[in-house]
Amino acid sequence: MAEAGTQTPPAATGGAPAPGRPNALAALERAFAGFADDERLVRRGGRVSEVTATHYRVRGLSGSARLGDVVEYRGRGGVRRGEIVRIAPNDVLVAPFDTGADVGLDAAVYDRGPVAIVADDGWRGRVIDALARPLDGAGALPRRAGEAAAAPATPGALARQRVATPFHTGVRVIDIFTPLCYGQRLGVFAGSGVGKSTLLAMLAGADAFDTVVVALIGERGREVREFLEDTLGPESMAKTVSVVATSDESPMMRRRACDTAMRVAEHFRDRGDRVLLILDSITRYAHALREVAIGTGEPPVARGYPASVFTDLPKLLERAGPGAGGAGSITAILSVLVDGDDHNDPVADAVRGILDGHVVLERAIAEQGRYPPVNPLASISRLADRAWSKEQRLLVSRLRAMMARFEDTRDIRLLGAYQPGADAELDQAVRQVPAIYEALRQSPGDAASADPFADLARHLKAREAQREAQHGR
Ligand SMILES: Nc1ncnc2c1ncn2[C@@H]1O[C@H](COP(=O)(O)OP(=O)(O)OP(=O)(O)O)[C@@H](O)[C@H]1O
Ligand SMILES: [Mg+2]
Repeated sequence: MAEAGTQTPPAATGGAPAPGRPNALAALERAFAGFADDERLVRRGGRVSEVTATHYRVRGLSGSARLGDVVEYRGRGGVRRGEIVRIAPNDVLVAPFDTGADVGLDAAVYDRGPVAIVADDGWRGRVIDALARPLDGAGALPRRAGEAAAAPATPGALARQRVATPFHTGVRVIDIFTPLCYGQRLGVFAGSGVGKSTLLAMLAGADAFDTVVVALIGERGREVREFLEDTLGPESMAKTVSVVATSDESPMMRRRACDTAMRVAEHFRDRGDRVLLILDSITRYAHALREVAIGTGEPPVARGYPASVFTDLPKLLERAGPGAGGAGSITAILSVLVDGDDHNDPVADAVRGILDGHVVLERAIAEQGRYPPVNPLASISRLADRAWSKEQRLLVSRLRAMMARFEDTRDIRLLGAYQPGADAELDQAVRQVPAIYEALRQSPGDAASADPFADLARHLKAREAQREAQHGR
């Protein structure tokens, strides 16, 4: 069959068949016809003119290059890639994806055009890097043949569906105090080691989603396996695409990983899925943005962050949210590291302004062993009113008032100045708040809660009955 094929000239050449034409020519003709776009036949290239530890300067690409284009060159260790981060009249600046500068002066550099990430349904259950290369050793990723990567399309503000459908995360303290809706963007704010990643992994296990995309940016390599295998577990993994850029990777990889994760999420959203995007952490993404921007010569404006960081953050986060009519939604939950527990950190501030809610984790609560260490009094969900029923809203505001009373009087009670019987409201708070705290405790291994309010009521009733039995004795 194959031989018969080589003797038939391709239809594309037109005219009558030429029986005497040599096979080689026909094969060449077919090979040419295979290149649908002429671009692939021409390689635009330049030459390295300067090498620093973090960037390369390349002459000869200024006329044709565009910001964000990927370039390829040959280093000592094989083919390397980088991204164009600045274009000047005489040369362009390339930030390499690999760490370690191993390119020499005069090396040839080829422009490969914009990054092409074409996600596929078969990517679920896989772990990939920022350039969509598999990291899990489970073979090549399925790719949709012949499809060009379109620029990511964010639905216009008025084309989006409204955010109004609540869902349960299965984490009681969130579902009661800061309930969420599909398409919402929520930040988990805390200092280091307080419990952000663990809470995020618990949220990633929510049954309410068709597909979960997890972006682990700037995490320690050891934590990645723990997160995926232990905290997330094999069941959630099956519907999860994980994009990983660990702390030892180049800032370009850490920066790109967020975009790759968002593109994967957009693919599944456009397919009609309800997608959950988990991003751990947005602060490390901001650090990567800062490193790249400073490398291009941008001046820092706030605590070392250049201005472009504060325009790139909303650009990324705006891509999450509800889709246009008919399409699915991207619900985004991201962790924000609050440096030195300082909640006025410029990144934390900028991110808080963009999001539709924030959950604050506190070290003091974690130190009491109350996990997840959420402080319900400092946390809000801007869409909670759409998720609560009228009775639930009333109940939550009563619970909050009681907790506030309990926390405000903590010092007085420790000093022994509290006398039961003088203030009925305070008495009730002292009696019930510890029981509420206990009911809100949850670890990653615990079962998800289908009806958190019922669970809470059951727990409080049981405690009350226990107390009465003790007093009756
Ligand atoms: N729900 C929980 N139940 C029990 N222990 C928990 C829980 N959440 C967190 N922890 C404990 O807190 C530790 C730190 O948690 P985690 O790694 O999630 O913090 P983090 O804020 O992500 O830290 P980092 O800033 O280093 O990324 C965990 O190793 C675990 O021991
Ligand atoms: Mg963490």
